Amino acid sequence: MKKILVTGGAGFIGSNFCNINKTGYEVTALDNLFLGDERNLDSDVKFIKGDACKTEDLDKAGLVDFVVHLAGTSSAPMFMGDQFTWGYVNAIQSFCTVLEWARKNGTKKVLYASTSSLYGNNPLPLVETQEVTPINHYAVSKRVYEYISRCYNKVYPQMEIIGFRFMSVYGPNEEAKGKYANLISQFCWDIARDLSPIIYGDGTQTRDFTNVKDVVAGLTLAIEKEKKLGADVFNIGTGRATTVNEIVDALNKAFGKTVKPTHIVNPVKEDYVLGQYADIGKITEVLGYKPTVKLEDGIAEQVKNLRMERIRETSSDSFR
Ligand SMILES: NC(=O)c1ccc[n+]([C@@H]2O[C@H](COP(=O)([O-])OP(=O)(O)OC[C@H]3O[C@@H](n4cnc5c(N)ncnc54)[C@H](O)[C@@H]3O)[C@@H](O)[C@H]2O)c1
Repeated sequence: MKKILVTGGAGFIGSNFCNINKTGYEVTALDNLFLGDERNLDSDVKFIKGDACKTEDLDKAGLVDFVVHLAGTSSAPMFMGDQFTWGYVNAIQSFCTVLEWARKNGTKKVLYASTSSLYGNNPLPLVETQEVTPINHYAVSKRVYEYISRCYNKVYPQMEIIGFRFMSVYGPNEEAKGKYANLISQFCWDIARDLSPIIYGDGTQTRDFTNVKDVVAGLTLAIEKEKKLGADVFNIGTGRATTVNEIVDALNKAFGKTVKPTHIVNPVKEDYVLGQYADIGKITEVLGYKPTVKLEDGIAEQVKNLRMERIRETSSDSFR
């Protein structure tokens, strides 16, 4: 069986990737538990508590065929205030360490998470050929990943290093992200407690809410693709825009409740993303990707499987 190392494997997307792929591959999750939770992983997934910035921790995974790098600094607020330097060091050092470790161990394919945040308020739909001007340090760090990958692949063409610009990912196993979790999780936790979800502005801003199962499916297609992908970058989304108001309605419907949201003046003064949806033409054509989870089904599943006791910390006053 082929082996995959997933850095950030106890986190939201990483744990879903490991649990879904554990039967087709020998999967090892590595995570320093900065945000992740070992309980996100099925008991038969191998777990290493370790730091992706440390070669000696990566060595504990042994030789692998593929690396999926999801560790690192996973959202914009983690680069704010005193965390600024750490945000960059953790993001860049983990990626470079993983690349070098993979190359020295003969791992030929590394997948990594980039982000749709790179696009800022670009015209819709967001497409990989657009020029991007990252609007915050988180997006800059992911753009740096993309540049590093291109150079690294030029110097070491035997290495494929493929990036994925995830749109707004939602689904199970987000409790450990607390206030950094997706808006769907945070609104879900609010409504479960009969608290009014706080919406910035009138709620007509849109996001391409993508179920984590579809994200995992896209990554898995790239692992299985025989054709060389070099240092290519792909959007993963649904190609659909949904307003924040619609999310509150869908959650209320799934709960059988009528909790009203509270609209406040948007405290994010600059560069707030007003609209988001992906052009998924490239990933569809090259990898055969097709999103399968309907938003209302994904939300209903999330409401059915609530685990409020696992929420690390939550508040409506977070990054939306
Ligand atoms: N969730 C989204 O909507 C979304 C959108 C775009 C991009 N991404 C990217 O996808 C990746 C996964 O995101 P996520 O939502 O699962 O976030 P997450 O925070 O749940 O997962 C990241 C995991 O990495 C771990 N980690 C952080 N630094 C580490 C290190 N140095 N060594 C080992 N483990 C470390 C954390 O403990 C956490 O479990 C991130 O790179 C994120 O930037 C996520």
